[in-house]
Amino acid sequence: MTTTSQFPLYYVFLLSLTIPQFIATLAHLDNYIVHMDLSSMPKAFSSHHNWYLATISSILDGNTRPTTTTTAAASTASKLIYGYSNVIDGFSASLSPSELEAIKTSPGYVSSYRDKPVKLDTTHSTQFLGLNSYSGLWPVADYGRDIIIGLVDTGIWPESKSFYDGGMTEIPSRWKGECESGTQFNSSLCNKKLIGARFFNKGLHAKFPNLTFSMNSTRDTDGHGTHTSSTATGNYVGDASYFGYASGTAQGVSPRARVAMYKAMWEEGAYTSDILAAIDQAIIDGVDVLSLSLGLDGVPLHEDPVAIATFAALEKGIFVSTSAGNQGPYLESLHNGTPWVLTVAAGTIDREFRGIVILDNGISIPGTSLYPGNSIPSLISIVSMDTCNDTKELNKMGHKIVVCEEKIDSISLAEQVYNVQNSNVTCGIFLTNTTDLEFFVQSTFPAVFLNPLDGEKILDYVKTSNIVGPKAKIQFQETVLGARPAPRLASYSSRGPSPSCPFVLKPDIMAPGAQILASWPEKTPVTDVNSGELFNNFNIISGTSMSCPHAAGVAALLKSTRPEWSPAAIRSAMMTTSYSVDNTVNQIQDLGNSNQPATPLGMGAGHVDPNKAMDPGLIYDVGVEDYVNLLCALNYTVKQIQTITRSSAYNCESFSLDLNYPSFIAFFNANDSAADLKIVQEFWRTVTNVGEGMATYVAKLTPMEGLKLRVVPEKLVFRERSEKQSYKLSIEGPRLMREMVVHGSLSWVEIEGKHVVRSPIVATSISSEAL
Ligand SMILES: *[C@@H]1O[C@H](CO)[C@@H](O)[C@H](O)[C@H]1NC(C)=O
Ligand SMILES: *[C@@H]1O[C@H](CO)[C@@H](O)[C@H](O)[C@H]1NC(C)=O
Ligand SMILES: *[C@@H]1O[C@H](CO)[C@@H](O)[C@H](O)[C@H]1NC(C)=O
Ligand SMILES: *[C@@H]1O[C@H](CO)[C@@H](O)[C@H](O)[C@H]1NC(C)=O
Ligand SMILES: *[C@@H]1O[C@H](CO)[C@@H](O)[C@H](O)[C@H]1NC(C)=O
Ligand SMILES: *[C@@H]1O[C@H](CO)[C@@H](O)[C@H](O)[C@H]1NC(C)=O
Ligand SMILES: *[C@@H]1O[C@H](CO)[C@@H](O)[C@H](O)[C@H]1NC(C)=O
Ligand SMILES: *[C@@H]1O[C@H](CO)[C@@H](O)[C@H](O)[C@H]1NC(C)=O
Repeated sequence: MTTTSQFPLYYVFLLSLTIPQFIATLAHLDNYIVHMDLSSMPKAFSSHHNWYLATISSILDGNTRPTTTTTAAASTASKLIYGYSNVIDGFSASLSPSELEAIKTSPGYVSSYRDKPVKLDTTHSTQFLGLNSYSGLWPVADYGRDIIIGLVDTGIWPESKSFYDGGMTEIPSRWKGECESGTQFNSSLCNKKLIGARFFNKGLHAKFPNLTFSMNSTRDTDGHGTHTSSTATGNYVGDASYFGYASGTAQGVSPRARVAMYKAMWEEGAYTSDILAAIDQAIIDGVDVLSLSLGLDGVPLHEDPVAIATFAALEKGIFVSTSAGNQGPYLESLHNGTPWVLTVAAGTIDREFRGIVILDNGISIPGTSLYPGNSIPSLISIVSMDTCNDTKELNKMGHKIVVCEEKIDSISLAEQVYNVQNSNVTCGIFLTNTTDLEFFVQSTFPAVFLNPLDGEKILDYVKTSNIVGPKAKIQFQETVLGARPAPRLASYSSRGPSPSCPFVLKPDIMAPGAQILASWPEKTPVTDVNSGELFNNFNIISGTSMSCPHAAGVAALLKSTRPEWSPAAIRSAMMTTSYSVDNTVNQIQDLGNSNQPATPLGMGAGHVDPNKAMDPGLIYDVGVEDYVNLLCALNYTVKQIQTITRSSAYNCESFSLDLNYPSFIAFFNANDSAADLKIVQEFWRTVTNVGEGMATYVAKLTPMEGLKLRVVPEKLVFRERSEKQSYKLSIEGPRLMREMVVHGSLSWVEIEGKHVVRSPIVATSISSEAL
């Protein structure tokens, strides 16, 4: 696993929140999440909250123990940060090391861990998803009406037109949420679209008592939360654009669904104790879908509050969509590789933003650009500056267009962009093989990016017209739809196998995440141009943070259409109907791997196809018990399992790493002298017929090099709807595979029917050791 980024500019666009750099005043105190066994609570306590208070009160440090009972109560209350109701049985508290040790000997104590910082990880994307008003999922699901999507994020800009409630019906009576008032946030700002707004920062405040919050309310000052929530559910907004790019009517994936914002990510930082409280409240309020564009790296499931809280959500039938992370293209880089959530990778869409170079000889060459400022309408001098590594020379250029070439052994594209940005040339044209340009194109100065082949035309012109003086002009703000190939897997999208649970293939699916247009707070700058900040009601940003709410929106539509489906059934429908070929009918390419075909470790089953997901034919369902059996097979201790399940009832009578999941990952990684011996790995699956009635399916396997695959039986006959049938997939291979990753798929193809139920298969020599 690696944490370094290929691209220095990357952080600018991925909106990572930074943790305050100062040290807490009371350095010996820290926040802990403490899990308790509710069945051990003495009957005398009227509520679990009182029990938690009594537990803390009983362990207060002798030297800080107050002398009067009233201050004792005050001191206990100030130590307790949150008592949780749903997500965990337990609380968060600010404790000294000796207090923590004392808690560990308290009756009913299960486990504890330190509070951790958390990182955050569209006009056209709905059309790219195939959603339209005439047929398919939108009209059938009534655009997600009455489904409630909750987001834990940086807050929301309630005045954004995406959250106007025109066309919305009355709020469902089951909704228990609230619109909390706070700094610059009046409770009357909610409406029939934005039906809940709450904020959580007690954990962050306990960690840094001196912190002042610039906006102590659900109001978004970052932009991320406004962007994700409008992506999932935004109402229709006409004339949306990013300074002329991507113009059109904007709407979210489920434009009639409701949105509830739970702000737990702050400009000042973000901690898991607040995230837990936010999810706890969302469950109480009654959300149907949770969209979590955030995650923690490098933690096992029983210490990952997002995994723990979403287990409780799952038990309540809440669908949870999460972001895979932006640490790709390296393998094993993903977070939220949790078996009971949807883990979403990010892809491009078929929209490109262009700057067009118009040479004095009449030739026009379109390149890539998202420069928001003015075009260069009249001809100015254009010069070739080789690799643009000479900053002194660049500064002599002034009012000129310079051409920079990325060459083998030259300075990187990022450095070239940096050099031109910090010079006083008027415009830079960058010739590069890189197709993964989204972190460069939102430039703060006029810039166009071209492939070397197109660049050759410019260089030839510059060379041949040296005597007369080559000239060019630039036209910005051109948007092209139908670009090919699309989609492609974004390079930064984090890859599997899941470090926390390698035995379930992750990510699950890919959704639009690259250069997504969505709403933005009007007081948060979208970009800087010539040292001046620019503001706009829409912004184009990229990341798995953007793909996660797309998938959440699709899940909301499916939930509206198929209310009886479990979260696992919805996930299965999305995965088995996804596609793995692009709009040129070739395998979806991976921008992070020289445009080679993307593997399921990058894109999961494939790109989400909402209209098809409505009618998957068969589903792979998973019950709560199945997830527990998996935890047992991970060799977790009883306490570790109880930390996740909040119940001591599970005693691991059965255990299995082989979850009834719509995908397969097989490890051939034995490191011993018998490496060449063959072994067989078996996977058992049960599928449920959710089609109309009688149906027969036959298995179709794609060949996988060096491996022998077999399905038994090869034919599944269903006599009626809801009937279940089981099969076994065996993969025979060497104890240690030579290749790192080989992939293929198993499809159940309906005979005389339209359904194809496709599951990706990965065989790998990567280590299967879980965290
Ligand atoms: C933020 O606002 C809430 C409620 O309005 C208040 O209880 C809390 O003390 C405030 N927090 C800070 C750090 O100002
Ligand atoms: C919220 O705003 C409305 C309209 O401006 C006003 O009537 C109301 O008193 C405000 N409520 C609060 C709690 O400030
Ligand atoms: C925090 O505030 C306290 C009391 O106002 C002060 O004594 C302390 O120096 C402050 N600490 C920091 C790190 O600013
Ligand atoms: C720029 O790079 C070239 C090689 O590509 C090298 O010869 C030259 O010295 C470099 N110039 C500067 C100013 O670093
Ligand atoms: C460009 O900047 C350099 C250094 O800041 C300065 O010496 C030069 O005169 C400038 N050139 C133009 C054309 O503005
Ligand atoms: C760009 O691609 C071309 C064609 O594949 C190749 O000849 C050239 O060396 C590449 N340039 C760089 C800098 O990688
Ligand atoms: C769990 O423990 C058993 C027995 O020691 C071992 O065979 C198995 O490989 C372990 N499973 C995992 C996932 O580590
Ligand atoms: C196998 O073990 C050797 C020695 O312990 C180690 O160097 C090597 O990296 C291991 N290979 C794999 C594929 O794990």
